[in-house]
Amino acid sequence: VGLILLNPGSHYFFVIFAKLSWLVKFFITVRTQRLVESSEEIDHIENGWWNANSEVIEKIWAHSYALQWCIRYPYLKKAKSFLQTSEQEKKLIWEVGCGTGWVCRMIADKNFHIIGTDFSKAQIEKAIELAAHFGKEDYCSYRISDASTLVEGHDGVFIHALLHHLTEMELDGFFSVMEEQKQGTRVFLYEPVFVNSNSKKSAAAFLWKKMIKLYVKIVSASIRISGSKNEPLIRESQALFEAADKNGWFLSPKEVPFYEHELESRLNQYFTTRKRYFVNSSDFTIAQMMVLYNMDRPGFLFRKLVFPVATWLDTVFFKLNFRSVSKGEYFFCCYELIRK
Ligand SMILES: C[S@@+](CC[C@H](N)C(=O)[O-])C[C@H]1O[C@@H](n2cnc3c(N)ncnc32)[C@H](O)[C@@H]1O
Repeated sequence: VGLILLNPGSHYFFVIFAKLSWLVKFFITVRTQRLVESSEEIDHIENGWWNANSEVIEKIWAHSYALQWCIRYPYLKKAKSFLQTSEQEKKLIWEVGCGTGWVCRMIADKNFHIIGTDFSKAQIEKAIELAAHFGKEDYCSYRISDASTLVEGHDGVFIHALLHHLTEMELDGFFSVMEEQKQGTRVFLYEPVFVNSNSKKSAAAFLWKKMIKLYVKIVSASIRISGSKNEPLIRESQALFEAADKNGWFLSPKEVPFYEHELESRLNQYFTTRKRYFVNSSDFTIAQMMVLYNMDRPGFLFRKLVFPVATWLDTVFFKLNFRSVSKGEYFFCCYELIRK
């Protein structure tokens, strides 16, 4: 009996293995609190994780160039006009934690130059290569540098999903760099935040949430029918999530989305918040599904109907403050900040 059960070729082996891995999951808690401080070892693991996995992450997080235009460009355009104030004005923007540079590369032009920094060598090399590939090398330059190292001579700061990768002490270091920014400096920030359920639960909120879920379900089913599974990508991304579960990480070794009050109490010390709005919820889920089903070039129907409807459903959800029904979920929040 023992041999049958423990023989990796037997059906029972997989049943038992599946049950055990569920049990392991049950006992291991995924990181939900920020690390207070890092160590050389943890930094090494985080940096190595990015160097090794940036290609898979690029696909499931940054999606394709065509999908970026559907779900990213609308808020990036707003970020650009916040940082530039007028199109004729020449600006040099410091993009901190730029990864492979895809975010600001979309909006870089002759009057909107980018100096991107990241501590991952592999990603900075890729960013330089991609800037040339997209003909943006005159507007985008990159260098390897830690988030707490000041880049001088810029006119504004752009941060896209970096800060939640830092420990408490690294955040202290980062914000002391922000403290050195001159009064009036503009900073655009995009970070995942666990929402506070700061509104009353209502039937309307509940129904709206149900409608969004149903919409995403229907769109996902149609993607599954019309697309073809990208098996290698699905396997690679599953492996990342399984490794995170096994190690008790959120996804990358150090990351944890912010809690609203945690981020905002830090921001309020140095900045006046000019605007704050949520983006990329249902549209992000749909775009990710499209990448996993080899549909990374959305057709007319997706561009003109499916994505705009998803965005509209989410916009209403956040405008009416229906977040009470999303306890424990995180959403991507944009902040337009001005140094006090
Ligand atoms: C979620 S990715 C965001 C990359 C890019 N901004 C984007 O939105 O795709 C986080 C990035 O932060 C970088 N990073 C993490 N810790 C860092 C640190 N201490 N200093 C500089 N970069 C760091 C990682 O290498 C990675 O490229």
